[in-house]
Amino acid sequence: MAKNIQAIRGMNDILPSDTPAWQYVEGVLRRVAAQYSYQEIRMPVLESTDLFKRSIGEVTDIVEKEMYTFDDRNGDSLTLRPEGTASCVRAGNEHGLLYNQIQRLWYLGPMFRHERPQKGRYRQFHQFGIEAFGMEGPDIDAEIILLTARLWQEFGIAEQVELQLNSLASNEARAAYREALREFLRAHEDGLDEDSKRRLDTNVLRVLDSKSPETQAILADAPKLSDYWDDESRAHFDGLCQRLDAAGIRYVLNERLVRGLDYYNRTVFEWVTTELGAQGTVCAGGRYDGLVEQLGGKATPAVGFAMGMERLVLLLEAQGKIPPSPTLDLYVMAVTPAAELNAPAVAEQIRTAQPQLRVQLHSGSQNIKKKLARADKSGATYALLVRDTDFELKHLRQREIEPVVLTSLSDLNLGVNG
Ligand code: HAM
Repeated sequence: MAKNIQAIRGMNDILPSDTPAWQYVEGVLRRVAAQYSYQEIRMPVLESTDLFKRSIGEVTDIVEKEMYTFDDRNGDSLTLRPEGTASCVRAGNEHGLLYNQIQRLWYLGPMFRHERPQKGRYRQFHQFGIEAFGMEGPDIDAEIILLTARLWQEFGIAEQVELQLNSLASNEARAAYREALREFLRAHEDGLDEDSKRRLDTNVLRVLDSKSPETQAILADAPKLSDYWDDESRAHFDGLCQRLDAAGIRYVLNERLVRGLDYYNRTVFEWVTTELGAQGTVCAGGRYDGLVEQLGGKATPAVGFAMGMERLVLLLEAQGKIPPSPTLDLYVMAVTPAAELNAPAVAEQIRTAQPQLRVQLHSGSQNIKKKLARADKSGATYALLVRDTDFELKHLRQREIEPVVLTSLSDLNLGVNG
């Protein structure tokens, strides 16, 4: 027997039993994005490798070791997108959507990172992302956070997620802080974990989210980023906090929140949950005022976030918040040889007259007992038995309801409204 070919490790099929949950989640995301007047943008999944190197940063985990990069047949280096922000900025620049304009955009689609797969972490995963361009004040930061807070409300998981906020301040302030942190950590280098030692030179801010307890103990006395905030960044952060306070959004200041991508400045935030184990960040983002220019456009302020769809679906499932999927309404079957020929037309007539119904037509010429057994197994509420000159409607879920005979399809009323 031929050997089965399996899916690539970390890349999942989303099976028919799971797609109703995904469709529900996607439906809510699309509806809420529209409520806030965000427009959808769809970008290719393949981009030039340089795009990600220049935006996410050469010495980040993503670019150093997680990208799916290959040379195509022309010898060009291409990469399966590990995230959406860089592609969105590339598309915005390329089509003149950004300079001197206000844009509120969203996207949803697969992203690819060669990480070690575990619950909530995959090699192909899906993000819903929001990117807002051309607005520099804290009001737009507040808007996208309020949008996410509304999503948690709609999904019924507001109590399961916590908002963590920080400011990475200006590039200059961050550079000064980096130096101070490096100097401090050098004096304690022997106690640091290996990864952190390596990051001292390359990306010292990432030492702040080291998982090692020894490193975390050393960090307790490290200089604080907020002591290096410039006045404008402080005012921006205060402005955001005031707006969140006024809207009743709870948050915690997490001074160690630095994010794994290089393009951020000022506001950064994450929504985290304790319900998913190690991969608890459901949604993350922040401001990236320098990226549009860095990728060749004219300077344009920007802020956005992305949420991991798999994590969101897992969380909703764990909390029992996925609504039951709709069942089949009607199972149509012929019970005479003449009706066999007529049954497809009957099913069509019903679908035309009552488009809100879910109608399945029996296929195959079994005896009536077998057909009824299939109808039962299909989960349909009703079966319609097509006879030579009339129809019999049977309730399949409540046996005590007597079947009714219909002389015309126009008498068919299942009480299902669209
Ligand atoms: P990120 O923090 O790399 O940010 O990813 C955002 C979210 O995507 C994470 O919080 C997580 O929920 C999900 N995610 C990331 N990697 C995986 C994975 N391997 N498996 C499953 N889920 C994952 C960004 O991607 C930025 N582009 C966000 C952004 C948009 N910032 C500004 N605008």
